[in-house]
Amino acid sequence: MDVAHSDPRLVAAYERGNDLPAASLRAWAELISSQLTEVRRLLEVGAGTGIFCAALAEQMPQAEIVGVDPSELMLAEAARHHAHPRVRYRPGAADALPLTDGSCDAALLSRVVHHLPDRVAAARELARVLRPGGRLVIRTTVRERLDSPVYRYWPELLAHDARRFPAEAELLADFTGDGRFEVTRVFSFAQPIARDLAELRDRYALRAESKFGALSEAEFAAGLARLDGEVPVGAAHGEVLERYDVVVLERAAGPA
Ligand SMILES: C[S@@+](CC[C@H](N)C(=O)[O-])C[C@H]1O[C@@H](n2cnc3c(N)ncnc32)[C@H](O)[C@@H]1O
Repeated sequence: MDVAHSDPRLVAAYERGNDLPAASLRAWAELISSQLTEVRRLLEVGAGTGIFCAALAEQMPQAEIVGVDPSELMLAEAARHHAHPRVRYRPGAADALPLTDGSCDAALLSRVVHHLPDRVAAARELARVLRPGGRLVIRTTVRERLDSPVYRYWPELLAHDARRFPAEAELLADFTGDGRFEVTRVFSFAQPIARDLAELRDRYALRAESKFGALSEAEFAAGLARLDGEVPVGAAHGEVLERYDVVVLERAAGPA
């Protein structure tokens, strides 16, 4: 596991700094579930504080959700904020999942691929636990389309993230290279993350994303000041959107 999600300060701030407006979370849950077929058990790998586990449980009343994360601190927050009768949170990492072969109908990797030390090992492990025909949804931003609003205020984070996030071709190659997965779709989806720039400012001020760890105190303060400068005029612009790339893969028939 990377160190970020075992940092008590980041973990304590994570829930408030990453939660989505209710309508945005619902839209994401609808979109993800619309890519899946016959889901009795869905696995979220890198479930964090469980924001998506609970939303997907609400969206799919027939499904059991298993949220796996290597950070005990994140899982404790998940149990606190997003407990749900059909969600189970379990410790584990993407390359050693605590699930039996073919026991999942679907899986989600949301904002996780850039944290994985070995994406090919994770792909192999996800193929092992998914049934043939089961789908994997990857929610990320690929290197060539890094466009989070965060870069407007902290432009130095763009270079930092370009070193961490895979390009689309690399990501697809890691998951399809040995024939375990086939690509179903790659597309974009954007939803509001804040009502206005003032709300965005409050969200970023929590420093609840691991990328902020790359900034000095002075760099962080300078970016926040840039954002503060836009808040008075930004109210007129309304909601702030964040776009993600969505990759849908299908577990091919054949041996894991
Ligand atoms: C940015 S958070 C994403 C949380 C949630 N999926 C979401 O979209 O809000 C990244 C999560 O990945 C987890 N993570 C880091 N390394 C991992 C690994 N090797 N396997 C699985 N999860 C990992 C972290 O502990 C953290 O909870």
